[in-house]
Amino acid sequence: MIKIAPSILSADFAYLGRDVEAIATADYVHFDVMDGIFVPNISIGIPVLKSIRKVTQLPIDAHLMIVQPVHYVEQFCDAGADLVTCHVEADTPENIHLALEKIHSKGKKAGVVVKPNTRAEAVLPFIKECDLILVMTVEPGFGGQKFMADMMPKVAQIRKYIDERNPACELEVDGGVDAVTCHECIKAGANVLVAGSAVYKAADIPEKIKELRG
Ligand code: DX5
Ligand code: ZN
Repeated sequence: MIKIAPSILSADFAYLGRDVEAIATADYVHFDVMDGIFVPNISIGIPVLKSIRKVTQLPIDAHLMIVQPVHYVEQFCDAGADLVTCHVEADTPENIHLALEKIHSKGKKAGVVVKPNTRAEAVLPFIKECDLILVMTVEPGFGGQKFMADMMPKVAQIRKYIDERNPACELEVDGGVDAVTCHECIKAGANVLVAGSAVYKAADIPEKIKELRG
């Protein structure tokens, strides 16, 4: 089954409780954390995560676009994230391993993320430790960007790695996913689709979530 993870980056933060409730038929709440250094934008962090934890039963998928996530992963787990993903570009391989270990020791799911210019092979050192791998289909930093269809061979390659080495691992895509591009992502082997603007701009959010399942 294809899972949908609406990104609340596209929600109205003045009405965040309402906008989290609006995606109750989805599978994850995708929570984008940006530090202004790893990406050229600053978004939301630990206090906001704690607040939305109180208003949703859905698992929260925290996508950390921050340098040296190893210093913060435990705080995100304690704040209520169910799954925490770290960019492989954000620190040394040793520290990324350590970050994954810290997330698991909190009893939460862990994963790695690759930016568009990062090769599929970059996930291999971590794949056995991952509950999910996230492939960016835009440059991280902003919602509402154009889907990079040229990432599909990378998604297919990582799907192959997952099937061979850790079949329980989920494969997520993030950026520019809508009712058209979702089909390409599913065909390439993704099973979790992040969608921000496609979901929050929809007149009927539950209907859009259904449509994105392909
Ligand atoms: C981008 C974020 C995405 C973003 C997706 O850096 O990681 O999760 O919110 O937004 P859309 O679906 O609008 O591309
Ligand atoms: Zn994201």
